[in-house]
This record gives sequence, structure tokens and C-alpha cells, in this order.
Amino acid sequence: MLCMEVPVTDMQHVNGGYFLLQVHSPAQAALVRPGHFFMLGMQHADFSADPLLNRPISVLDCTPDDHTAPAAIHFLIKEAGRGTRLLSRLRAGDNLLCHGPLGTTFPEPSPECRLILVGGGVGIAPLYFCARRWSATHDMALFYGGRSVTDLPLQGLLPQTGLREVILLTEDGSAGRRGLVTEPLPEYLASNPGAKVYSCGPNAMMEAVARITAHVDAQLWVSMENRMGCGLGACLGCVLPVIEGDKTAMVRICKEGPVFRGEQIDWKIRY
Ligand SMILES: Cc1cc2nc3c(=O)[nH]c(=O)nc-3n(C[C@H](O)[C@H](O)[C@H](O)COP(=O)(O)OP(=O)(O)OC[C@H]3O[C@@H](n4cnc5c(N)ncnc54)[C@H](O)[C@@H]3O)c2cc1C
Ligand code: FES
Repeated sequence: MLCMEVPVTDMQHVNGGYFLLQVHSPAQAALVRPGHFFMLGMQHADFSADPLLNRPISVLDCTPDDHTAPAAIHFLIKEAGRGTRLLSRLRAGDNLLCHGPLGTTFPEPSPECRLILVGGGVGIAPLYFCARRWSATHDMALFYGGRSVTDLPLQGLLPQTGLREVILLTEDGSAGRRGLVTEPLPEYLASNPGAKVYSCGPNAMMEAVARITAHVDAQLWVSMENRMGCGLGACLGCVLPVIEGDKTAMVRICKEGPVFRGEQIDWKIRY
């Protein structure tokens, strides 16, 4: 884990309040795996310290240094409040404080494993990274959903993942099939026994995925996007109970997570 001030190399605003931010950081890019996140620092043009805390953001993609292009780490961010609004004002040439890579990662699947990704909102970022890393070597499918087409900011970038099977769903039918992203899952999983499912997005969506995988032959991993203070395991601001066997253990989402086995999460708790 490294804490570095690195140059912003690209910034693109997408629809729906989302933006794609790219930084150049060869040392950190060499360490990044799907599921990792960074704590990103704010620019304080007015020399104030508000907001004080850095913000946790998942890695969308990472390209190491090679002879075709310099190392880049990519993020997909949605404007939610003051911190992300300040990040949205960054421009190529600005510097950004990047602390990471942090947290646990999605397990690298074995070659014979069928991998099914289920995501929505900003939760699509780590799943996109899984697809970029493993679609050439693994049998994979992506279920990507949102309320409407503006909630699918990565739709245009999906061909770059090399995924052969992408199932888009929107609640209003403005892109892909009409419905919730979880609706086709029971039938799909029943015809793909033994699959691994990686999910990230709103808790209600991941809870629905967990309910479905509990009744079929599938293993689920989820990435939790709870609020964080330090992101480094020090402040205990992200501590939550998770199920470990027949006990409940208090864990730091930023250190022992954010990626957990689906059955570790007690969805009755409002995470
Ligand atoms: C491991 C991890 C990975 C993440 N990855 C991404 C990512 O790739 N892209 C991205 O855009 N966001 C991501 N997030 C969420 C992001 O960190 C928050 O949206 C951000 O911290 C909000 O900061 P803010 O100052 O803009 O908003 P604030 O002013 O702090 O809050 C604005 C509103 O958003 C709500 N909010 C703030 N943080 C969260 C949260 N974590 N979950 C739900 N609601 C929240 C607040 O309650 C409030 O209503 C991730 C979070 C975690 C923990
Ligand atoms: S955010 Fe500080 S311990 Fe997890």
C-alpha cells in the first residue's frame, strides 16, 4: 500500500453525474487486483481542510506500464456529495492524493470455473475490472442493471471487456430488458450449476442476489461499499458484524473487506 500524489491524466464526464478519472502511477498500478480500492484525497483550492477525510473509490481498470502506453489506474465515480464533487473538478495535469491499493480482492477464479458478475450503480466498477482481467481466460457473464439508461454509464465501454455475454436490464426499459437486474438470475444459475457469483452495488440488490444463490448450487462473493473514515484499519469507523461459522465477529470493512463471502453478511442489519 502506497500513499502518493500522482498526476491526473484524463477526466471524462459521462451522463447521470458519473465521471471517469484516470491517474498515472506505475508503482501502484503494479499492485492493483480486482476488488481493490483507493482512498482519494480532495483538492483544497481554498486551502481549507474541508472535507477532512479522503473518499474510498474502487479501481475500475488498471493498465500496467508497457511499450504501448504508460501505467494508468482508472476510476468510475458518481457525484454523491461534497467530496466527489471536488473530485469531479479535477482536470488532466492536476495532482491527486492516492492511498492504496487497499482492502481484500475478489478471488482469482480457477480456469474451469464459470464466473457470473452482477452489478449496478458504482458497484459496476470492480466487476468491470474482473471482466477486463479474466474474460480472455474464463467463461464469464455480466448482469448489469439500473433504473434507466443514464444509470448504466459503462454501457459504451463494455465491448472493451471482451465479455461474450452481457445482459443489460433497466427498470423503465430504456436499455436492455425491462426489469430488475436480479430477475433473470434464478433461471440462469439453475442452468449453470457450480458457478461463482461476484456482486457489487446497492445493498438491496446484493441481498436479493444472496437470497437467490442460497437456493442454487453457486458460491457468492460481495463487495460492501459502506461509509469509511480512514480506510486504513485505524479509526474503527467502518466496523460491522459479520457471520463467521456459528459466531458473529466485528470486522473492519476496509481491512477484512470490502470483499466477503455472501453468507458472511447478515442482510437483516442495515449495513
Ligand atoms: C470500498 C468502497 C468502494 C467504493 N467505490 C466507489 C466507486 O468506485 N465509485 C463511486 O462513485 N463511489 C464509490 N464508493 C462510494 C463513495 O466512497 C461515496 O459515494 C463517497 O465517499 C461519498 O463522498 P461525498 O463527500 O461525495 O459525499 P458525502 O457528502 O459524504 O455524502 C453524500 C451522500 O451520500 C451518502 N453516502 C456517502 N458515502 C456513502 C457510501 N459509502 N454508501 C452509501 N451512501 C453514501 C451520504 O449518506 C449522503 O447522503 C465506494 C465506497 C466504498 C466503501
Ligand atoms: S475506515 Fe477506519 S478502520 Fe475502516
